[in-house]
Amino acid sequence: MLTQLLVFVSTVVLCVSAQNSTNVTTADVEQAFTTAKIVPDVLPSFNPVGLLNVVFLDNVTNTTVTVTPGLNMTREQNALRPTVSFVSNMTTFAQQTFVLAMVDPDAPTPQNPTSAQIRHLLAPNITLNGSLATGAVLVNNTPAISDFLRPTPPVGSDPHRYILLLFAQPANFSSVVPGILNASTPISNFNISAFAEQLGLGSPLAGNFFLTGPDANSTNSTSTASSAASSATSPASGSAAGSTTNPPSSAVGMAELSWTGLTVAMGLLGVLVL
Ligand SMILES: *[C@@H]1O[C@H](CO)[C@@H](O)[C@H](O)[C@H]1NC(C)=O
Ligand SMILES: *[C@@H]1O[C@H](CO)[C@@H](O)[C@H](O)[C@H]1NC(C)=O
Ligand SMILES: *[C@@H]1O[C@H](CO)[C@@H](O)[C@H](O)[C@H]1NC(C)=O
Ligand SMILES: *[C@@H]1O[C@H](CO)[C@@H](O)[C@H](O)[C@H]1NC(C)=O
Ligand SMILES: *[C@@H]1O[C@H](CO)[C@@H](O)[C@H](O)[C@H]1NC(C)=O
Ligand SMILES: *[C@@H]1O[C@H](CO)[C@@H](O)[C@H](O)[C@H]1NC(C)=O
Ligand SMILES: *[C@@H]1O[C@H](CO)[C@@H](O)[C@H](O)[C@H]1NC(C)=O
Ligand SMILES: *[C@@H]1O[C@H](CO)[C@@H](O)[C@H](O)[C@H]1NC(C)=O
Ligand SMILES: *[C@@H]1O[C@H](CO)[C@@H](O)[C@H](O)[C@H]1NC(C)=O
Ligand SMILES: *[C@@H]1O[C@H](CO)[C@@H](O)[C@H](O)[C@H]1NC(C)=O
Ligand SMILES: *[C@@H]1O[C@H](CO)[C@@H](O)[C@H](O)[C@H]1NC(C)=O
Ligand SMILES: *[C@@H]1O[C@H](CO)[C@@H](O)[C@H](O)[C@H]1NC(C)=O
Repeated sequence: MLTQLLVFVSTVVLCVSAQNSTNVTTADVEQAFTTAKIVPDVLPSFNPVGLLNVVFLDNVTNTTVTVTPGLNMTREQNALRPTVSFVSNMTTFAQQTFVLAMVDPDAPTPQNPTSAQIRHLLAPNITLNGSLATGAVLVNNTPAISDFLRPTPPVGSDPHRYILLLFAQPANFSSVVPGILNASTPISNFNISAFAEQLGLGSPLAGNFFLTGPDANSTNSTSTASSAASSATSPASGSAAGSTTNPPSSAVGMAELSWTGLTVAMGLLGVLVL
C-alpha cells in the first residue's frame, strides 16, 4: 500500500512540472496524424491549436515516458493513466472547460477493425491548472464517463494506434450527453468524430498518439480484455475529503492494480490529474 501510494504521489508531483518538454510543434503533430492515417481514419481533418503533452509512469521501472506522436510503447509503459497537459499560446483557453478522449481505431486488429473504435477514456468537465504557455495540467473535476482503460491489443495483432484528443466542452454538454452516452454504453464501436459532431464539440484543439502491440510473450490465457471496466463508475473518492476532484481512471486502476487503499489516498491528496 505504501509503495503504491508512493507511485501515485510521484504521479501527482510529476504533473506539477509537466510542460512543453519535447521540441514537438503543432505542425509536427498535424503531420504525424496524417502520416499515421489518423486523418482520415479517425478525424476528417486536424488543425491543432496547441500541444497535448502526455506523460506515463512506467509501472515496472517507475520511470516516466513522455509521448511524442507515434511513439512505440510497451504495455508496461502505458498501464497507468497518464498525466496530460495542454500547451497553447491562446490565453482564452485558461477559462475553458474541456473534454478529453482516448480511442483505439484498430480493434481487434488494424487490418480488420470490426469493434473499433474502442473508447479508452472519455472525461468531461476538465479544467486547467498552470501556465498554458509552458503546460497547464488537465484536472478532472467530476468522474469520467469512461474511465481510463489501459491498452490491451489482442495476441497476434499488429500494434494499435491509441489517440488522445482534447476538445472544448460546450455549455450544454452535461445536459445533452446523458441521453447519448453514459458509463453503461459499450466502449466498442465508438466514433469520436460522430460523437463530437453530435455534441457540438467542434474540432479537437490538440492531440497526441502512441502505438502499442501485445506483450511479446503474451498468450491467450493472459489476455485481459477488461471491458467490464467501462461500467465501473468512479467512486466519489474526492468527496470524502471535501474535494470535488476524481480521476477518471480510478475504477480501472483499482480493479487492475488491486490498489485497495487508493480511494482513500486520492481523497486525501484532494487534487488529482489525469
Ligand atoms: C530541444 O532542442 C534543443 C536544441 O536543439 C535541445 O538542446 C534540447 O535537448 C531538446 N529538448 C528535448 C526535450 O528534446
Ligand atoms: C514547444 O517547444 C518547441 C521548442 O522548444 C517550440 O518550437 C514549440 O513552438 C513549442 N510549442 C508550443 C505550442 O509552444
Ligand atoms: C518512483 O520514483 C520516484 C521518484 O523518481 C520515487 O520518489 C518513488 O519512491 C519511486 N517509487 C517506487 C515504488 O519505487
Ligand atoms: C515503431 O515501430 C515500428 C515497427 O517496429 C517502426 O517501423 C517505426 O519506425 C517505429 N516508430 C517510431 C516512432 O519509432
Ligand atoms: C504494476 O506493478 C505491480 C508490481 O509489479 C503489479 O503487481 C501490477 O499488476 C502492475 N499493474 C499493472 C496495471 O501493470
Ligand atoms: C500562436 O502561434 C501561432 C503559430 O506560431 C500563430 O500563428 C498565432 O498567431 C499565435 N496566436 C496567438 C494568440 O499568439
Ligand atoms: C495546481 O497546481 C499547483 C502546483 O503547481 C498545486 O499546488 C495546486 O494544488 C493545483 N491546484 C489544483 C486545483 O489542481
Ligand atoms: C488462442 O486460442 C485459440 C483456441 O483456444 C486458438 O484457436 C488461437 O489460435 C489462439 N491464438 C493465439 C494468437 O495463440
Ligand atoms: C460536470 O460538472 C457539473 C457540475 O459539477 C455536473 O453537474 C455535470 O453532471 C458534469 N458533467 C458531466 C458530463 O459529468
Ligand atoms: C445509458 O445509455 C444507454 C445507451 O448507450 C441507454 O440505453 C441507457 O438507458 C442509458 N442509461 C441511463 C441510466 O441513462
Ligand atoms: C449544444 O451546443 C452546441 C454548441 O453550441 C450545439 O452545436 C448543439 O446543437 C447544442 N445541442 C443541443 C442539443 O442543444
Ligand atoms: C520472453 O521470452 C523469452 C524467451 O523465453 C525471454 O528471454 C524474455 O525475457 C521474455 N520477455 C519478457 C518481456 O518476458
